[in-house]
Amino acid sequence: MRRSIPVGCGHYLPERVVPNTYFERFLDTSDEWIRARTGIERRHFAAEGQKTSDMAIPAAEAALRDAGLTGADIDAIVLATATPDQTFPSTATRVQHAIGARGFAFDMQAVCAGFIYALANADALIRAGSANRVMVIGAETFSRILDWEDRTTCVLFGDGAGALILEGRDGTGEASDAGILSTDLHSDGRFNDLLYVDGGVSGTGTVGVLKMQGREVFKHAVTKLSAAGHAAMERAGVTSDEVSLVVPHQANLRIISAVAAKMNLPMERIVVTVQDHGNTSAASIPLAMSVARAEGRIKADDLILMEAIGGGLAWGAALMRW
Ligand code: UT7
Repeated sequence: MRRSIPVGCGHYLPERVVPNTYFERFLDTSDEWIRARTGIERRHFAAEGQKTSDMAIPAAEAALRDAGLTGADIDAIVLATATPDQTFPSTATRVQHAIGARGFAFDMQAVCAGFIYALANADALIRAGSANRVMVIGAETFSRILDWEDRTTCVLFGDGAGALILEGRDGTGEASDAGILSTDLHSDGRFNDLLYVDGGVSGTGTVGVLKMQGREVFKHAVTKLSAAGHAAMERAGVTSDEVSLVVPHQANLRIISAVAAKMNLPMERIVVTVQDHGNTSAASIPLAMSVARAEGRIKADDLILMEAIGGGLAWGAALMRW
């Protein structure tokens, strides 16, 4: 059985770090509220003129260095973003050109669940024999779509990029194999209005700003993420005791800990970077994974569970052995 094996990851964060106190200058909010309700302490914002590809490219280069590969070794790029450089061409093709990759490259859009969707698609491409080394990227510049007068949303998000390289190799089909063991994807368009951007190419001809019914999304997040996590484990034939590390979408520390509790996983086994990055949408999982790997928290043979939810609603989980 063909398996998609992780061989390297990397990330990039823009230089500008913005602490919670920044928002106190122009909004009725406080560092205490933001920390207590979300766990966020700071986030990075892209510089003026810095585009999503400007972050995706250094993240991709870092992943290549980690894997000991060059761009010419990559035969497909799947890039998850809701904040592309331009309406078209895809941000993925900009990365392809910059790193000198072969084959094909395309963007995917599932907002905060984008990385899980991109990972599932990359795995399918590898198993179908369409590509053998796939760069999976999550990259976002959410600071461009925030309403700076809305304290309920603009304090939550940040910018950044992360990348993971997958390589096709033969496995046994057992849960002891390295690589992606299972994925579980869902969406439910009945909940479009809970989290959306009020602009778009064919709708308004504008970019728009993010709107969210946070409390509602919160409730869906806890139940849907734990269900997806359980489904991914069941599909792979493993239990939560065997999971070495969870790399969850970093939206809110309260969601991360509630989901961990529902899956019987202690917080020591959960990667938490939301305090430093805020919610970077599709970038949040590969960013957190790359930080955990740089800290030596991810070793060969570790079983890693990823889960994410966002606008759509779209959500999912993936289980991968490093
Ligand atoms: O990645 C995509 C998925 N997104 C998410 O997972 C986000 C899910 N939602 C959340 O993380 C949380 O719902 C929020 C962090 C957005 C909000 O936290 P909450 O505990 O659900 O607060 P709330 O919306 O129930 O608001 C409580 C109070 C309200 O005031 P009243 O109505 O009780 O007077 C808000 O107006 O907190 C107020 N509030 C704020 N106060 C100070 C909302 N935002 C702020 C703020 N500073 N920034």
